[in-house]
Amino acid sequence: MAAFVFSVTLLALSCVCFGAEHHVGDSAGWTNKGVSYDHWAYSKIFQVGDTLVFTYKKQMHNVMQVSREAFETCNSSVSPIAVYNSSSDSIPLQTPGDWYFICGVPGHCQAGMRLAIKVSALPSHGTDDAYMYPSSASPVIKYFSKLALVVPFLLIGITHV
Ligand SMILES: *[C@@H]1O[C@H](CO)[C@@H](O)[C@H](O)[C@H]1NC(C)=O
Ligand SMILES: *[C@@H]1O[C@H](CO)[C@@H](O)[C@H](O)[C@H]1NC(C)=O
Repeated sequence: MAAFVFSVTLLALSCVCFGAEHHVGDSAGWTNKGVSYDHWAYSKIFQVGDTLVFTYKKQMHNVMQVSREAFETCNSSVSPIAVYNSSSDSIPLQTPGDWYFICGVPGHCQAGMRLAIKVSALPSHGTDDAYMYPSSASPVIKYFSKLALVVPFLLIGITHV
């Protein structure tokens, strides 16, 4: 019973660390009015299962998920991976790696509406590994405890040669 409660608690704790919602630009949102999205993203950790939320005025902007090249050259003519234009777009980050976003309205990417983030994979079965450690370690522990018995005799043997 205690073990069951313990593992349920672990499960609950492990769920706290993903599924975060990141509001791009915080209260400023997605805008060409002088927000540095590099700076916004800098201190944040993005993980698979998190969501990016872009908020902006309809008709003013959009969100294009693009390739690295399109991001670097601010070229919205390169066919985008995805386009969002609902004015409040929730984009689930489903795969690890680099994700690039620009505003597709001419001039807006150059004006700073570009965001590059690195999404990390969740540490898979991290808590499982921690939980499994004692039983998988026990042969090693047995081995070393035998060694601990043998080593003093070896040392005695060496000093007597
Ligand atoms: C932008 O991309 C399009 C399509 O790939 C290409 O034809 C065009 O030359 C590119 N423009 C610039 C300025 O790189
Ligand atoms: C909005 O995005 C959809 C695809 O997600 C596209 O079909 C539509 O043309 C876009 N509308 C505008 C105004 O860009």
